[in-house]
Amino acid sequence: MLAGKRVLLIIGGGIAAYKSLLLIRLLRGAGVAVTPVLTAAGAQFVTPLSVSALAGEKVYSNLFDLTDEAEMGHIQLSRVADLIVVAPATADLMAKMAGGRADDLASTLLLATDTPVLVAPAMNVRMWDHPATQRNLAQLRTDGVRFVGPDEGEMACGEFGPGRLAEPEAIFASISAALATGPLQGRHVLVTSGPTQEPIDPVRFIANRSSGAQGTAIAVALRDLGAKVTFVTGPATVPPPEGVAVVRVETAAQMLAAVQAALPADAAVFAAAVADWRVANASGQKMKKDGSGQAPALQFAENPDILATVSHAVGRPALVVGFAAETEDVVAHAMAKRLRKGCDWIVANDVSPATGIMGGTENAVTLITDAGAEVWPRMAKDEVARRLAARMAEVLAHG
Ligand code: C5P
Repeated sequence: MLAGKRVLLIIGGGIAAYKSLLLIRLLRGAGVAVTPVLTAAGAQFVTPLSVSALAGEKVYSNLFDLTDEAEMGHIQLSRVADLIVVAPATADLMAKMAGGRADDLASTLLLATDTPVLVAPAMNVRMWDHPATQRNLAQLRTDGVRFVGPDEGEMACGEFGPGRLAEPEAIFASISAALATGPLQGRHVLVTSGPTQEPIDPVRFIANRSSGAQGTAIAVALRDLGAKVTFVTGPATVPPPEGVAVVRVETAAQMLAAVQAALPADAAVFAAAVADWRVANASGQKMKKDGSGQAPALQFAENPDILATVSHAVGRPALVVGFAAETEDVVAHAMAKRLRKGCDWIVANDVSPATGIMGGTENAVTLITDAGAEVWPRMAKDEVARRLAARMAEVLAHG
């Protein structure tokens, strides 16, 4: 239900700012209260009067407006909303957000808040494509900011390409998704995903074929139930989801450190395909053939078991879920693994090549809990993720 929610809408500068007026109408029509903030550049394109008339509320624009500070300080203003929406977001606003600047009301609110943020960028195509903007975009995504658009098409400046503000209906749909209150609201869930890469020398590494698809789908499903998700990922082929805090790592040791830094959490899902071994005698320099015909001898050291370490730690998450990819005796091996690792659940699957599961879009899993083994029918990995997230929400609600 959207009615009764409050959005803090920051309107940046740009010809597309007129669309934010339509957005305010859509939000108000759905019973969403809108606190409007107009940047100095935004005020060049839409007037404070039209914004406040449509929002039915006062427009905030000046950081040093003493009346505002007396009525409601900027820290409080940044926190009363259920969601902060920046539409249109200029390249400059994105740069300020990515850099943590706070030199006007909008950027100060964005830095002072712990409320989820949704950004709808709008700018010239070259500004959007510029490496600086793309860097800022990547940083903001890593920080857990969600994005809608930009769309591709003809722009007000006459050029063509990505940079058009998403249509108000699309922004409204993203706001609805972001405001959806699920059973995991207020819960922090940690998800590991993807492969790890263990260096042999500065240019070579040992890795595995994990795409990160199942872990990513689980992070999305948990996010959609309202959880605050920290997503610790190795170098996966599937891009990380939006609206989650992304921590990128390469090695198992880095993954363990990132997981420990992200705790405490209410629940944790360990979907990463972590290398069991790292190269103990990795070379600091690129290894070279010396003409003797002798191959280098790699020595291996066992990697820390992240799942087992967290499961056995004091103050561990209330619900710890591990994975077991097996090729034979799936249930028996997975049950033994659950006890050995000390986790609460194991999601077991058969990854024999004949199943087509590894690298595919479907999965056939068995959920192992202390109550026994529960065989789930074969279904899309997204569906496995949704069912698992729903089960986790049930347990956390009663725990
Ligand atoms: O022992 P095995 O690799 O089959 O266990 C798989 C489960 O353990 C997965 O949940 C995986 O994410 C986790 N794991 C881990 N750290 C390791 C090895 C596996 O967290 N070093």
